[in-house]
Amino acid sequence: MPIDFSKIPSPCYVIDELLLRKNLEVIKQVQKAASIEILVAFKAFSNWGVFPIFKEYGFGASASSIHEARLAFEELGVKAHTYSPAYEEKSIADILKYSSRISFNSINQLQKYLKRAGQTGVGIGLRVNPEFSDTGYDLYNPCKPGSRFGVTAEQLGDGVPPGVEGFHFHTLFEADSFALERVLAVFSRKFGPFLSKLKWVNMGGGHLITRKDYDARHLVQLLFDFRNRHPVEIILEPGSAFTYRTGYLVSTVLDIVENKGIKTAVLDVSFTCHMPDCLEMPYKPVILGATDERAGKPTYRMGGISCLAGDFMGNWSFDQELEPGDKVIFDDMIHYTTVKTTMFNGVRHPSLGIWNEKSGFGLIREFNYQDYKSRLS
Ligand SMILES: Cc1ncc(COP(=O)(O)O)c(C=O)c1O
Repeated sequence: MPIDFSKIPSPCYVIDELLLRKNLEVIKQVQKAASIEILVAFKAFSNWGVFPIFKEYGFGASASSIHEARLAFEELGVKAHTYSPAYEEKSIADILKYSSRISFNSINQLQKYLKRAGQTGVGIGLRVNPEFSDTGYDLYNPCKPGSRFGVTAEQLGDGVPPGVEGFHFHTLFEADSFALERVLAVFSRKFGPFLSKLKWVNMGGGHLITRKDYDARHLVQLLFDFRNRHPVEIILEPGSAFTYRTGYLVSTVLDIVENKGIKTAVLDVSFTCHMPDCLEMPYKPVILGATDERAGKPTYRMGGISCLAGDFMGNWSFDQELEPGDKVIFDDMIHYTTVKTTMFNGVRHPSLGIWNEKSGFGLIREFNYQDYKSRLS
């Protein structure tokens, strides 16, 4: 049974279980074909209400904070591979408890925690910075000059620091395997001489393996070739790829207002609170049944429910005029979106649900006044 949006309460993020399982299957097959380990990057998706589904596929987790590491342990049942730009004294003991591997961002941090990490038997990695990324978005480029991420080849000098068994790098954003190939060429040139001393290389995230045109065969071949040159264990930690195009944000038109000929549909959701990447990146999301602005068709801005003046995006055209009560459904609103929401302005937080083709809609979580109140004092 295809998803029936009339059965979904508004506002609500809804995951389509079938689409989620398709992604998990694709990633599992790539993991097997390439003989690598693929971790779920919690930063992109960590709604643990659906982890029972993830557990069926047996992926590990990549964490970047104490809370993500703990959540991986408690709800996915795995010890995380953890990386953070810096670790605090007050949380390092717990991070080590919940991690199987820990990567440090700098030589200072490595030296500070090396002894403690070594005593726990957690594998120790160092984030390196290949200083190369061809992502077009500065916001998502960790390799720009002045970046705070990782040790450059120049800073590393001519040796792997004692205790380090793996390198971790992250350079890509929603990229294909050919972008990884370009990164690996630079990485091998700069760091290749060190790799014979290492057990593993974590090639970070940004691999959009589940996009229709992603060439998984090329990825597999690329990784085999890399391992032929450098016999190390390879780890990838994509985030977006797991929940890419697996669900929607369902909203409702509350009012239509007009100013200087611009019609705005005021919704029960907010771009700044519930779709923040649209404003941050920025990008224009797809609305089901709507198109980009077309002359002669009813055309609207979508306006958020918060008081932020810039909480709107434009413009979409529809076949018919919109009216209060109509549903507006934003596509691809799961990865990064559901983890980045806020309760700014006290606006109602969308519920979280899942659509199963046999049983229909299942509500996972609703949010209420207490959720809002409890974070404020
Ligand atoms: C270190 C690291 N690993 C993995 C990821 C996940 O990347 P993506 O969700 O683009 O696959 C990120 C994203 O910022 C990251 O910083």
